[in-house]
Amino acid sequence: MKKIIIASALVALGVSSSLALAEGVSDKVLQKVISSSWKNPNKDNPEGAKPDWASRLNQGDLQKICSKTRNQPDKKTAAKLEKAAKASIKYPEDGKFLGDWKNGEKIAQNGKGLRYNDKVDGPAGGNCYACHQIDKAELAYGTIGPSLAEYGKLHEFTEAANKATYEKIYNSHVAISCSNMPRFGTMGILSIEQIKDVTALLMSKDSPVNK
Ligand code: HEC
Repeated sequence: MKKIIIASALVALGVSSSLALAEGVSDKVLQKVISSSWKNPNKDNPEGAKPDWASRLNQGDLQKICSKTRNQPDKKTAAKLEKAAKASIKYPEDGKFLGDWKNGEKIAQNGKGLRYNDKVDGPAGGNCYACHQIDKAELAYGTIGPSLAEYGKLHEFTEAANKATYEKIYNSHVAISCSNMPRFGTMGILSIEQIKDVTALLMSKDSPVNK
């Protein structure tokens, strides 16, 4: 994908020998080319990028700091990022962190949402299995993140762990300032109810994850 973007950026700039120059293109030029290609859907381009996508081209402060420090900000900066992550969290009005684990399993399996052809405000999935082992009965999972098998059992099903799990899923940067996990709540990927459901998948005593 990256190569394709760089290559098309160079084509747009009228550069013929893309390979020779690929390394020489500054971030600024690349950013400009990508931004200019970002058009809302129209008659000629019905599948154009969704309007809200353009805002995602701008790195937030958190991303800037994490990119610049290669995910290793100094302690003070890390604490600041974690504090800001915590401040972004919205908590369930009923004070309960555990929803329906069965629905949580569906959300964890579902990789839909925020893709080119998905509706902007349609419900998205969490795609958790892309990075984590969760229910041991599911054999297809990624290993970018740690295994979450028996997660609730390992955390002794405490209310404090329910809360910490909800917070981690809502904004993964609460615990690790430059986390590689998506910020499901803060970035509007999952709703509060959906986050409660995946929290239940990990933390409920009757969830297959803890059998
Ligand atoms: C793109 C990969 C990715 C996706 C998708 C992802 N995670 Fe993670 N997750 C990670 C990584 C990497 C970590 C390790 C710590 C960190 O970087 O934050 C992690 C850590 C966690 C932890 C803390 C584990 C611990 O050590 O206590 C929980 C809980 C968790 N993820 C739940 C989820 C849930 C639930 C979903 C789906 C809604 C999800 N993750 C989706 C990458 C991902």
